[in-house]
Amino acid sequence: MQKQTVDKLQKKLLLWYEDKGRKDLPWRNLQNTRCDNRLKQIDRAYGVYISEIMLQQTQVKSVLERFYFPFLQKFPTLQSLASANEDELLKAWQGLGYYTRARNLKKAALECMEKFGGVLPKEPEKLKSLSGIGAYTAGAIACFAYDQKVAFVDGNIRRVLSRLFTLKNTNMKELELKAYKILNLNDAFNHNQALLDIGALICLPKNPKCGICPLYDFCKAKFNPHSYPENKKIVYEKLNLALVFYIYKDQIAVEKSQEKLYKNMYNFPLFKQNEFKKQKNMIFLGEFKHSYTKYRLDIKIYCQILKDQTGFEFKKINELSHIALSALSLKALEIYKSKNILLKVKE
Ligand code: ADE
Repeated sequence: MQKQTVDKLQKKLLLWYEDKGRKDLPWRNLQNTRCDNRLKQIDRAYGVYISEIMLQQTQVKSVLERFYFPFLQKFPTLQSLASANEDELLKAWQGLGYYTRARNLKKAALECMEKFGGVLPKEPEKLKSLSGIGAYTAGAIACFAYDQKVAFVDGNIRRVLSRLFTLKNTNMKELELKAYKILNLNDAFNHNQALLDIGALICLPKNPKCGICPLYDFCKAKFNPHSYPENKKIVYEKLNLALVFYIYKDQIAVEKSQEKLYKNMYNFPLFKQNEFKKQKNMIFLGEFKHSYTKYRLDIKIYCQILKDQTGFEFKKINELSHIALSALSLKALEIYKSKNILLKVKE
C-alpha cells in the first residue's frame, strides 16, 4: 500500500469513527473532564488497564452494564488491588469467567509496587513484563492510557488486517507489521479505537457489513471476506463430571478448587465421573451441559443427606451469595432449587 493510499485510509477511518464509533465508552474518556461521574476518582491508566483485561474475553455490553463500574468502586486504585483479599477479588470477578485474569490483576499490581513505584509503566516492554499482560494489552495500555504511538493486534484487529491485506496463514509478526504500516501517528488513540470498532461492528466473522465499511475501497478481500483469516480450529476437551449437593442440617458442602480449572473459586464438590461412585442414598437430580474455556462439560447432579459434617466446608444457602461460586455451580444450584427437595434449606 502506497503512502498516499495509507493517508486516505487513515482519513476515512477517522471520519467514520467520528460519526459511528463508540466514542462514549467510559474507558475511552478517562482523560476528559466530561468523563462519567462514577469515574472521577479513577486514574486513567488504571481505568484503561481494568477495561482491557475485562474486555479480553468478555463482550463490551456485559463489561459496561455489569462489571466495570462495580469493580472500580470496590477496587478504585492499583494499590487497592495489590492489597486485595483474593476471595473478595474473585467475588468481584464472578460472572466474568477466566478467573486467572483476576488473580493476575493482583499479581501485576504487586509487581508494579515492587518494580515501577506503584504505577503502571507507559512503555509496552515494561508493561509486557507484568503478569497477565501480553503484547496486545501492553500496546493498548500504552496507547489508550499514555497516548503512545503504538500498534497492536487483538482478535478483531487480526480479522480486519487479514482481510484488508488478504492474509491467510499469517502470524503475529506479520500482522503487527501491517498494523504499523497503517498506524496513524497523528492520532494513534482514535485510529486504534476505530480499528477495534470496525472489527466489532462491521468486519464481523460471519456476516461482515462490507457495504458500509469505510475501508471497503482499500480492502483486498472485499469480494470474498469469508476466506480470511484462516480460522484456527479450537480443540475442545470433553469432561464428564458429577456434582454433589452434600447436605448437613441446613447447610451445603462447598470446596475451593485446587485444580487449574476454577483455581481458588468455590464449587459444590465435583468429581470426574469415572472416579465417582454413586452411593445408595444419593438422589440423582438431573444433568446439564456447560462450556468453560476449552472445556465442554457434561454434569450430572446428585444430592446426599449427611449425618456428619465431614471433609468439606459448609455454608448456609444465604451465605452462598457471599462467596465466589463458579457459573457451573450457580447453574447447578438453580436446578437444585427447582427440585424443591428438602432443602428449600431454610432460606
Ligand atoms: N476491546 C478491547 N479493547 C477495547 C476498547 N478499548 N474498546 C472497545 N472494545 C475493546
